[in-house]
Amino acid sequence: NRAQKIESRLSGLVLSGATLSRVSDVFERELERGLKEESSSLQMENTYVPELPNGTEEGLFLALDLGGTNFRVLLLELRAGQLVREDVKHYHINQALRLGPGEDLFNFLADCVQDFVRSEGMDKESLSLGFTFSFPMRQHSISSGELITWTKSFKCSGMNGVDVAGLLQQCLHARGLDITVRVLLNDTTGTLMAGAQIDPNVGIGVILGTGSNGCYMERASRVQHWEAAHARVHDVCVDVEWGAFGDNGCLDFIRTDIDREVDQHSLLAASFTFEKYIGGKYLGEVLRCSLAALGRVGLFPAVPPPGSLLTEHLSLFEEENCSGGWSRTLFVLQQACGEEARLGPEEALITQHVAQLISNRAAQLASVCIAALIRRMDRPLTGVAVDGSVYKCHPRISTLMNKYIALLAPNHKFTLMGAEDGSGKGSALTAAIAARVAANNP
Ligand code: BG6
Ligand code: GLC
Repeated sequence: NRAQKIESRLSGLVLSGATLSRVSDVFERELERGLKEESSSLQMENTYVPELPNGTEEGLFLALDLGGTNFRVLLLELRAGQLVREDVKHYHINQALRLGPGEDLFNFLADCVQDFVRSEGMDKESLSLGFTFSFPMRQHSISSGELITWTKSFKCSGMNGVDVAGLLQQCLHARGLDITVRVLLNDTTGTLMAGAQIDPNVGIGVILGTGSNGCYMERASRVQHWEAAHARVHDVCVDVEWGAFGDNGCLDFIRTDIDREVDQHSLLAASFTFEKYIGGKYLGEVLRCSLAALGRVGLFPAVPPPGSLLTEHLSLFEEENCSGGWSRTLFVLQQACGEEARLGPEEALITQHVAQLISNRAAQLASVCIAALIRRMDRPLTGVAVDGSVYKCHPRISTLMNKYIALLAPNHKFTLMGAEDGSGKGSALTAAIAARVAANNP
């Protein structure tokens, strides 16, 4: 019957316990190799952030948040580790800037900073800035690093080998602003910092947003990549960049024809394949390609066109599924497939079921990575700070992840906690930590 045929056509999206433990083994192996700077799909980048907040952080900081859904400039004030002021302004980055020359993008970023400090009446002041740049980087220090590759919806030219903090600094100086880029960080690092400020057990930062990634505190002795003396450093935050997990083919055993289609339609094909199983930029497209695959073999009455289903739709289908309804699902589906498509309640229920399979797989794969880090850190209790639109808006993802992490890291206690605004709070905290570390190591 139809249900059985659908199950069989989509069986590749269902990962068994045995497959998950194989993914987990491969992740651990790639992680070790990455730390040793051997060939690996995991970058395991040294962020040069050597400690977590301790409640003494002070100061006034600017922050720039580039790479998530929103581009923002912020002014933050910390007193005794607490945020006492946060002014924020959002700016729109159009497609021409996201896909054009890198220099244009960075000049635009500096224009936004200038507009922001003017509106705050602070354009003549000397200020420190934390730059949250949520892309894979090769960091040379806590305040410098090169972009390795663009991800998500950015693909600017001319950025090979360019220090992104240095380029931003140049653009700021060219506008006569007395602003110094003090730290360059990833959004996962910001989330870890923001989480650790709420709960001292936090040791892992995770983003489940447009993209997906994690970072954690690693023993410094296990990290090979250092470009400065680090005798006094015991720990350091490592940016895993798990979005690229499997880009060397080591995870091809979970890849389906649907994933290949998602990849081919993406802005950056053949890169960050793991992110395409989890990230909010892709989950709606995984659902669309799955329905299209059913449509092509006559198991679904339509083939929804590219871009017609978004991750927010998948979240809506999941929500309606939880409450036992189907009418809103049908409405969205009809709009996606076009008025001529003959759809009814059965198609809405099928779509909800497929959405569930895709969400489940995303939760499983993110959990494999988080559980591996929890096992590796082996603490009495590990706090995991999580941010991003998928975590915040998907109705079941956190429940599913709690379940799968517990299965994959048995005998380890953990808590998943939402830590909003990693790029704001986290970048100010990191800038304050950098100042403290510099003062202690003159
Ligand atoms: C935000 C963080 O809340 O989440 C950003 O402050 C981060 O740093 C973002 O990049 C990730 O989520 P999304 O869904 O915007 O990609
Ligand atoms: C992408 C980026 C990574 C970032 C993640 C979440 O995977 O490469 O640096 O942390 O998206 O925004």
